[in-house]
Amino acid sequence: MSLPQQVKIVEVGPRDGLQNEKEFVPTATKIELINRLSAAGFRNVEAASFVSPKWVPQMADGADVMTGIERRAGTIYSVLTPNLRGFEGALAARADEIVIFGAASEAFSQKNINCSIAESIERFAPVAAAAKQHGLRIRGSVSCALGCPYQGEVPVASVLDVVKRFAALGCDEIDIADTIGVGTPKRTREVFEAVTEVFPREHLSGHFHDTYGQALANIYAALLEGIEIFHASVAGLGGCPYAKGATGNVATEDVLYLMNGLGIETGIDLAQVVEIGDFISNAIGRANVSRAGKALLAKARSEANTCV
Ligand code: HMG
Ligand code: MG
Repeated sequence: MSLPQQVKIVEVGPRDGLQNEKEFVPTATKIELINRLSAAGFRNVEAASFVSPKWVPQMADGADVMTGIERRAGTIYSVLTPNLRGFEGALAARADEIVIFGAASEAFSQKNINCSIAESIERFAPVAAAAKQHGLRIRGSVSCALGCPYQGEVPVASVLDVVKRFAALGCDEIDIADTIGVGTPKRTREVFEAVTEVFPREHLSGHFHDTYGQALANIYAALLEGIEIFHASVAGLGGCPYAKGATGNVATEDVLYLMNGLGIETGIDLAQVVEIGDFISNAIGRANVSRAGKALLAKARSEANTCV
């Protein structure tokens, strides 16, 4: 299969990236981050979560974040909704897309959302129905699709099972998520090969954490399977509160550098994203882990010094 000519990059830094920060990130910083990202050309930004603040305190200000941001026409602002209460918050906050998040591993489902996979699907059913009724897009995220921190290996059949259940709920898009970044390209291709048999390829996305340094290779493997949507987090922000030791998502700057090199259109300005990566890393006092981001910043600074 030939590589796609264009891809959609979903920026998940404001949610997946920041949710794991110990110190509360001020609402104004979250708002500035999202505004700068949409100005850089992202068509889809995962902006907040409407989850229990007892479970993820960092996301407690989702409503204020959504009220404070400037909505860029054509940009989809997504929020996580684990239950109807979350959905009501998302609706009031005028989210464009809700994300229901389940897992392909029973153990992770219990740790992350305190219920079994089957119970989670029951809980998501009224959420999905309400989203349809109000004309909101629905995305389903399948955690641990390439491995689980508690259970280890996850059979492809378990991934397929959740994908089919999400499809039956009417999901517009489904994420295949490597929550702990253990996947390798061979497994990535096997999983996407199977999943594309049961859900349209063009509505599947790859959500790769980079714990084992495999995320870019996995993205390339997914491109070879015809996948056209990828999630990334500026400066490589993140980790998962319920997957100890897992690092952030693959850095957006690195993904854009890869896509630019492959001649694949993203519609996003890499130079602007490099600046945003620098901004948010400084704002929260965290090391920027984007390789391309750091290299391009160093290059820009040395060129600026040479010019004066
Ligand atoms: P629970 O404790 O079983 O449920 O949590 P509960 O109904 O007893 O609720 C507990 C408390 O939270 C109650 O408050 C509720 O009112 C409140 P209390 O009565 O004790 O004062 N509550 C809420 N508050 C605000 N908004 C809500 C809400 N719901 C309940 N929506 C629950 C079950 C699902 C709520 C909980 O487990 C939860 O919120 N989990 C979220 C975990 C999470 O956000 N994890 C990170 C995101 S997933 C992820 O990162 C993976 C992903 O990136 C893909 C990948 O990489 O794999 C997407
Ligand atoms: Mg994630």
